[in-house]
Amino acid sequence: MKKKKIALLTGGGDAPGLNAVIYATVRACLNLMDCEVIGYKFGYRGLYNNDYVPLNLETTSGILHKGGTVLYNSNKDNLFDYSVEENGVTVKKDVSDVAVANMKKEGVDVLVVLGGDGTLTSARDFARKGVNVIGVPKTIDNDLPSTESTFGFDTAVNIVVENLGRLHTTAESHHRVMVVEVMGRSAGWIALHAGIAGSADVILIPEIPYSLDGIVAKINQRNAMGKPFSIVVVTEGASEKGGSAVVAKIVEDSPDSTRFGGIAGYIANQLESRVQNEVRHCVLGHIQRGGETSPADRLLSARYGVRAAELINEGKFGNMVCLRNGQMEYVSLEDVIGDAKVSTSGSKLVDPNGELVKVAKSLGISFADA
Ligand code: F6P
Repeated sequence: MKKKKIALLTGGGDAPGLNAVIYATVRACLNLMDCEVIGYKFGYRGLYNNDYVPLNLETTSGILHKGGTVLYNSNKDNLFDYSVEENGVTVKKDVSDVAVANMKKEGVDVLVVLGGDGTLTSARDFARKGVNVIGVPKTIDNDLPSTESTFGFDTAVNIVVENLGRLHTTAESHHRVMVVEVMGRSAGWIALHAGIAGSADVILIPEIPYSLDGIVAKINQRNAMGKPFSIVVVTEGASEKGGSAVVAKIVEDSPDSTRFGGIAGYIANQLESRVQNEVRHCVLGHIQRGGETSPADRLLSARYGVRAAELINEGKFGNMVCLRNGQMEYVSLEDVIGDAKVSTSGSKLVDPNGELVKVAKSLGISFADA
């Protein structure tokens, strides 16, 4: 029997846990079958340029705990709509056949794609072209409906909670209001989990539009209680009632081109004249994706990686590994992505009437929605 050749790539933004999935997939593949593993660099761009590195026990040694990805990321390169130079002009083209030809030339039997919805949409399209694909879902936002939990989320929540602790002590010293912006796009999971665990006073999430009056009321209530400092946690994609989210920039070429950012500064400006406290803001940004992967995410990633290897061994291609009822299962990429255009309407969002929102409210945390 021919030795199997398995290729991995990491697409979209990075998420803590990607290295742990690479580590686990490589080890489990080498244990389960006679195979060779390679990794394309910079996501699909590496597949197009046939730019890869060997993945083995040596090259993946010591990466389990590290954030980022040893294969590097690109969140732009969609090979089904790729920018190429033709006669000095940049044009968009479907270059997926080049990628398929590269895999054929190298003798690649299986492509394992680690990524979010944009990356997995291309994975589905490569599966439709006859490539043996296995998907592994990734996002710190935890907003993919097809899996209960994505790696990177726990690490991001831990980082936010740690930083809320730091901001609490300085806010208390100066009797300030700190408005803290966290990631999540249009899903409020990071803000909600970290806001509860980090004792925020106000949590603002996209699923529950806020009013400035609501934020002011909570700050004044705390001031009156002898707590003249407050912590407001806000998801980057949150918006005021009747308003719209604050967009930092549009990244052309990216499957989901909107980059949110700026809401914390906006709220801080608005609040300053409305409360007696000084108001400052802080954007945690990419700090939430950096550093070491949390132990819970290392464990979850290892489970994803091992299940991906098992699916390869069982020949169950065209599927994505997922967590269902706490078990590692798999689901067809066709069902994950379907034919729908990827959009936030397909995201797993916080239920405004769900248990966690109720828990937060019972603790006295305001969503400024009254
Ligand atoms: O989807 C993950 C995420 O971290 C979002 O929360 C955030 O809006 C976005 O990626 C930022 O992406 P970039 O790396 O392009 O700044």
